[in-house]
Amino acid sequence: MRLKDKVALITGGANGIGRETARLFVSEGALVAIADYDEEAGAEVLQELQAASGAEQTIFVKVDVSDAESVERMVSTVVERFGTLDILINNAGITRDSMLSKMTLEQWHQVIDVNLNGVFYCTKFAAPHMVGKGRGKIINTSSIVGINGNIGQTNYAATKAGVIGMTKTWAKELGYKGVTVNAVAPGYIETGMVAKVPEKVLQGMMEKVPLRRLGQPQDIAKAYLYLASDDADYVNGTVLEVNGGLVI
Ligand code: CAA
Ligand code: NAI
Repeated sequence: MRLKDKVALITGGANGIGRETARLFVSEGALVAIADYDEEAGAEVLQELQAASGAEQTIFVKVDVSDAESVERMVSTVVERFGTLDILINNAGITRDSMLSKMTLEQWHQVIDVNLNGVFYCTKFAAPHMVGKGRGKIINTSSIVGINGNIGQTNYAATKAGVIGMTKTWAKELGYKGVTVNAVAPGYIETGMVAKVPEKVLQGMMEKVPLRRLGQPQDIAKAYLYLASDDADYVNGTVLEVNGGLVI
């Protein structure tokens, strides 16, 4: 029970890595708010988790992280329901892949709005609740692509590199107030996001991974858990790469 009675807010918690994280955090004793704009998947995971742990431990909050007002409402809802906020996992994200020559302005702005602005809005509205009590953990989701770049991902790479910059800045701004800020940079993880990658590209990627497999959502959920737990109390401003050794 590494998160006993901690209140965790997981954006993008209805699918993929976020959904697996909600499962793991509930099993570790956390009170979990699953925040997502996918209401159907949110209802599904809520039902599953409430059946396993009772109705008190989890809620679903509909949010569009790219909309500041929606994010402000999300944070208020969580704090009203659970009384506090201990952990924020900035996990919601999207891709709109295209070569630079073909990338539309819409594709550029959509990804910036969700992956970069969304992380800023969520942290801006959540952090004061942690600073106010002198303790909290913020975990941002970057990517191997934010460190190394990737063909067809100008927009996405920019956001995931930006997330690293924000992580390090907030680690400096909030550390002395008792709030740690870290990032996880996953490699290729088997979720709906990776399902869109052409088979040929994915195969080439997998051959470069020393472990010769894609990561599983649990692999990232466990990294989030470490950074969210007391075990990581002295870890601040780091980027934990979880990619099977794809880049060494
Ligand atoms: N690595 C190496 N080669 C790549 C590549 C990649 N990531 N992406 C594309 N290519 C190659 C293609 O194999 C192709 O090579 P050939 O000309 O030799 O056949 C060439 O680049 C052009 O590609 P397409 O013919 O597919 O061009 P397109 O304009 O139709 O599509 C694209 C471009 C949308 C970028 C498409 O290639 C694509 O989806 N690529 C994959 C991009 C990718 O890796 N996205 C990761 C999504 S998962 C994620 O983002 C999570 C995370 O953090 C890791
Ligand atoms: P996913 O597509 O399975 O899940 C993403 C979730 O975010 C979905 O539930 C979606 O509804 C939600 N979401 C998207 N836009 C939203 C918005 N505007 N407001 C609220 N919710 C929104 O993707 P996955 O793979 O679980 O990704 C989770 C995070 O991990 C993302 O930030 C992604 O960029 C990152 N990541 C994923 C990798 C992978 O290989 N799958 C690798 C590296 C990073």
